Amino acid sequence: MSGPKQEQGGTGWGAGASSGAEAALLRRYPGFRSLMERAKRRSPRFAFDYLEGGVGDELCIDRNRQALDAIEIVPRYGIDVAAVSSAASLFGRDYAMPLGISPMGLAGLVWPNADDAMAAAAQKAGIPFVLSMVANTDIETIARIAPGVVWLQLYAVPQDDYRVTLDMVDRGSRAGAHALVLTLDTPTRQKRLRDLRNGLTVPFRPTWRTVYDVARAPAWALSTLRNGQPRFANFVPYVKGRARPGDVAGYVDRHMAGAMTWDLIKRIRDRWPGPLVLKGIQHADDAEHAAGLGIDGIIISNHGGRQFDAAPAAIDMVQDMKRRVGGQVSVMLDGSIHSGLDILRALACGADFVFAGRPFLAATAALGAGGPVHLARMFQAELRGVMAQAGATDIAACRTLSFRMGRAQEFSQSHTGLCKQR
Ligand SMILES: Cc1cc2nc3c(=O)[nH]c(=O)nc-3n(C[C@H](O)[C@H](O)[C@H](O)COP(=O)(O)O)c2cc1C
Repeated sequence: MSGPKQEQGGTGWGAGASSGAEAALLRRYPGFRSLMERAKRRSPRFAFDYLEGGVGDELCIDRNRQALDAIEIVPRYGIDVAAVSSAASLFGRDYAMPLGISPMGLAGLVWPNADDAMAAAAQKAGIPFVLSMVANTDIETIARIAPGVVWLQLYAVPQDDYRVTLDMVDRGSRAGAHALVLTLDTPTRQKRLRDLRNGLTVPFRPTWRTVYDVARAPAWALSTLRNGQPRFANFVPYVKGRARPGDVAGYVDRHMAGAMTWDLIKRIRDRWPGPLVLKGIQHADDAEHAAGLGIDGIIISNHGGRQFDAAPAAIDMVQDMKRRVGGQVSVMLDGSIHSGLDILRALACGADFVFAGRPFLAATAALGAGGPVHLARMFQAELRGVMAQAGATDIAACRTLSFRMGRAQEFSQSHTGLCKQR
């Protein structure tokens, strides 16, 4: 028996190990769940909860997952699947697969130097890495680590007529970020119960509880001692004086609150010549508004369930968005993408590209710098494996697969089809 031929070697069975070391890694960490479990064992509780948790009762996180689980794809057979390609292009660049790494602020709390590790892994894997504005390594450094694949995400910082946000647009351009991502779904700060319970604050103030948590995570503690307390590196130039981690965190705490307004988006559009993406769009009217402003892409997202517990699952909005703006902008999504099968599900529903956040950061906390490399390889092998199984030999074919969202629905041929919301 032989499985589908891989583009860059591999076992051909959705496993993706091309060396003994990789096979061993795959045996121990065969999927997202096993990486999450190891990350949980290695990180202090407040750090892991910051990674895993969400807003309120965390219903939105479950909603993202349940909506993906409910998607059925009807496989086609009789097709030669000896050669399967996951290659995808976006905004004029070629990527190994239609998956990127979502921006995650304060990743250095979850594991020291996580931004650098994820950026290096993205460069190696040939997938986009979106650096958060509130990352712990600055855009100039990350652009050197991942010159081919780095994007930059920004929030609105209203102080002094958005001086910091606009300056960061220029810094992103000078550093060579390929695309700029503006996050809309954080007009306010919301209650994340786990962080409240754990006493997690910005700036970080140790409590008996956090000290106890750290004592139970020696690998994290040693690594943090070696690397120093994480700081909001992109903000250092804007803070007067010595800009110690606590000073920069204080600055971020005082000034990071405000909506990314349409006015500001227009100003950024005039200033940024490259691809401009709006992240956190959930209403198709907002997507239409964005398209009218000359935006290049949208990422349908509910911030991984971290902002609004009543938000719809991102995947449930794809078809509507596709219908409304699919001809004008790239329609992407994130939220609970945990496997190659989830990527296929999103593509079948019509998404042009998808992103994943927590899995990559969890992989870093679980295995250090090798974690996100392992995960990217695994995602790609799984994607190729399920594409072959479903009868899609390239990414365009994935979007023509028949699918339905939940058992009660009719089958749809593609995103232009009849499928109703769950
Ligand atoms: C620890 C963490 C930090 C995040 N920080 C940011 C951020 O700085 N900017 C942003 O636009 N989104 C941020 N997000 C949201 C992610 O970009 C993304 O939308 C979400 O994680 C996708 O869901 P997933 O983690 O289930 O893949 C963060 C998410 C996590 C888990």
